Amino acid sequence: MSATLSGKRILLIIAGGIAAYKSLDLIRRLRERGAAVRCILTKAGAEFVTPLSVSALSGDKVYGELFSLTDEAEMGHIQLSRDADLLVVAPATADILARMAAGLAHDLATTALLATDKPVLAAPAMNVRMWNHPATQRNLAQLKADGVRFVGPNDGDMACGEYGPGRMAEPLEIVAAIEAQFDGADLPLKGIKALVTSGPTHEAIDPVRYIANRSSGKQGHAIAGALARLGADTVLVSGPTHEPDPAGARIVRVESARDMLAACEAALPLDVVVCAAAVADWRVANEAAQKLKKQDGKPLPSLTLAENPDILASLSQRKKGRPRLVIGFAAETEKLLENAKAKRARKGCDWILANDVSPGTGTFGGTRNTVHLLAGDSFEDWPTASKEEVADRLAHRIAAALNGGVQ
Ligand code: C5P
Repeated sequence: MSATLSGKRILLIIAGGIAAYKSLDLIRRLRERGAAVRCILTKAGAEFVTPLSVSALSGDKVYGELFSLTDEAEMGHIQLSRDADLLVVAPATADILARMAAGLAHDLATTALLATDKPVLAAPAMNVRMWNHPATQRNLAQLKADGVRFVGPNDGDMACGEYGPGRMAEPLEIVAAIEAQFDGADLPLKGIKALVTSGPTHEAIDPVRYIANRSSGKQGHAIAGALARLGADTVLVSGPTHEPDPAGARIVRVESARDMLAACEAALPLDVVVCAAAVADWRVANEAAQKLKKQDGKPLPSLTLAENPDILASLSQRKKGRPRLVIGFAAETEKLLENAKAKRARKGCDWILANDVSPGTGTFGGTRNTVHLLAGDSFEDWPTASKEEVADRLAHRIAAALNGGVQ
């Protein structure tokens, strides 16, 4: 018995890979520790292990068909994922990962995965070249952004005779990842309170018009998701965006810079703040209470601007209750280091992520980002990467700093 797993209900999805034989041992290991294991065996999975073995080891019926009348009568496909505390996909083949990333639901396994709001852990297993293929890596990044956690794959000899990453993690490694999922103890940002600002702000001209900018919120949202994945209690204060909510973060939606500052202050005390929002520098001082009318022959309305609060500077310069680590962005087109240093001094923050927004980089609204981190005296050039990868790297860097590493 294990205190962490005792009484936990795990829905194990066995997809069609040679590593499916290890999932039989996984079922045993989980049951030894007091977990209840219910299994979905995909059609391809049943080519590798038999429903009878799975059923004998799990001590339960094995589910396989989405349109099985008897299965649906006994246990609907929605109920299957509702009844579980955790969904585990092992082996997670390239194919099932692609279908999960695309949100497809044409069989029982993918339907249960799409219909769930429970955590999902996947143990990938595939040929090394399938693993390295950009399509698989793209799906992986998407699934990580969706909050799916991964264990493995490991490097080693493969059943296909090749060597490299792609071997499914061993059953006991998967058990350890499942235990960590339940107690969260291994997560480096466990117990840390984080806040991320993201997106543009909208500054009202009148009840129907506003001033805004082209920020998509992609980078800020990805950072909030990455911090949450590492266990941080994460608040995402976001201006209006079309980005999906990152899994695991609490979202506070705001419109204006002043609302954003108020929401940030309401979230204090905090350990770490990342200001990724493109806050409008100005608001309209003479915001009209009624819609401005177009009137022939009358003079055009004129807007008077007032300066918005600087959220990054305000949080950085708090006398009382300043977060331990405050991080800002600097969008630059030239003299990156010089400008980043000047901005850090002006705002009073600890780190600056300088991103290159020169024409042709496609940073604004794009999916990739080239950043340089100014932390302490070091200025690190990070390779151009997807905004999710940049977010992951930043989250790990934050964890290292807060856990006693260099700042
Ligand atoms: O001054 P500038 O807009 O270039 O600074 C960018 C950094 O400051 C970003 O981290 C942005 O989120 C933050 N910022 C802010 N509030 C403002 C303006 C910028 O938090 N009003």
